[in-house]
Amino acid sequence: MTTTQTAPKQNGIESGGPIRFSSRLKEGRALAQDVWSIYNAVNLPPDCLNLGQGYMNFAPPLWIREAAEEALRTVPANHYSHPKGRLRLREALKKHYEADFGRTLDAETEILVTSGANEGQYSVFVAFLEHGDEVILFEPFFDQYLPSVTFNGGVPVYVPLHPRTAGVDKPTGHDWKMDVDELRRAITPRTKMIVLNTPHNPVGKVFTRTEVEAIADIAKEFNLLVMSDEVYECLVFDGEEHVRIATLPGMWERTVTVGSAGKSFAATGWRVGWLIGPESIIKPTLAASTRIVFCSNSPLQEAAAAGLELSKAHNFFPTQTKEYAERREVLIKVFDDLGMKYTLPQGSYFVLLDISDLDIPDDYPFPESLNGRGRDFKWVFPSTRPPCSIFSPHSPRACWFMAMEIGVSSIPVSEFYCEEHRNIGEAYARFAFCKDIDTMHAAAERLKNLSKHLKKKQI
Ligand SMILES: Cc1ncc(COP(=O)(O)O)c(C=O)c1O
Repeated sequence: MTTTQTAPKQNGIESGGPIRFSSRLKEGRALAQDVWSIYNAVNLPPDCLNLGQGYMNFAPPLWIREAAEEALRTVPANHYSHPKGRLRLREALKKHYEADFGRTLDAETEILVTSGANEGQYSVFVAFLEHGDEVILFEPFFDQYLPSVTFNGGVPVYVPLHPRTAGVDKPTGHDWKMDVDELRRAITPRTKMIVLNTPHNPVGKVFTRTEVEAIADIAKEFNLLVMSDEVYECLVFDGEEHVRIATLPGMWERTVTVGSAGKSFAATGWRVGWLIGPESIIKPTLAASTRIVFCSNSPLQEAAAAGLELSKAHNFFPTQTKEYAERREVLIKVFDDLGMKYTLPQGSYFVLLDISDLDIPDDYPFPESLNGRGRDFKWVFPSTRPPCSIFSPHSPRACWFMAMEIGVSSIPVSEFYCEEHRNIGEAYARFAFCKDIDTMHAAAERLKNLSKHLKKKQI
């Protein structure tokens, strides 16, 4: 007798075979279709301009790529590196950061090279979380935090930033407010960590000194570890101050700062990042990272080191910031001309467009994959917003609509919130301006066509 085996369902998800996969995949939303795969080139019109995903459509400068080629021509750079990272890169990071941190950094014990910021952050969670430990995430949050926390037994606790933009003519990242009392109320005896991200993805907020001090005070009061994700540290505009929480009194010993060659040098595919912190944090994290990747990509560590070593000679970071500011300008000008509201970013490379005024036909054809997603995927906002549980069966999906009709993709900000708080992000679409200036101009030309889809203003 033959038996036909049907693939078992786990947590309502087809496992695809007879072997059960770990339930941790479900908890971290890891098996849900993520927003990036819905809004990628496969699903969108072939000529759609991609301002959705946050990677560049340009390469690192030639002199950095040449350093990568040079590294490949040597024997050692084709082989394993020390799990701490290549000495040349650790020395370059030491030199680059010492003044900013206002202290001497030990390249042997206080700097760890990782396979992108993401792996570094994952390794910190592996090293420090016990089952049931709570991790504070400010919403909206970079989506990788969630599975990285839950895979390691952690419990995310969400503290939303609130867009206090009503009545503000030209909102900026500063108008997304952190409520210190709300943060304090979120702390329990199980709280282990706070994840701070400044400059912030997706809001573009650069946390003020007062805000960072408030977070530091709470971390000290409750003996918490702070993971300060500063991957956009080199993209701060308008003379804003980037405050490193690690530099505040009493914070060095409880803070790990995260950086990324991907963001710093327009090299997201290199997978080179770094962590800076006291030995008490770096040592256990190194133990975790060594088990996960053993070591990071050798030749591109050499190239990242060259990037840091030669950055001053090439006036690289100021030039790069200026170029990003020009790209930002192209995007915000078109929104200004359209009379649409957006959040002016003080850092990072994202603009949040307020899509409340988009008027989209009720019968517009939307794909199944958008069902059950936040309303910024599909909602047209009435002047008074409905409670977040109400979905209109006819409501169009704004980001999808813009991609299909305007030819510019964006990402719905509700995806960066937990279910309970999704309604906060539903009024916004995130546009990334990490694209070359010609692409930004082309996108702006297309975005002008949004004028045909704006609700008539009541006079
Ligand atoms: C806030 C934030 N942190 C970390 C990362 C990951 O950086 P990396 O590509 O170096 O892993 C990203 C990437 O988009 C990000 O936006």
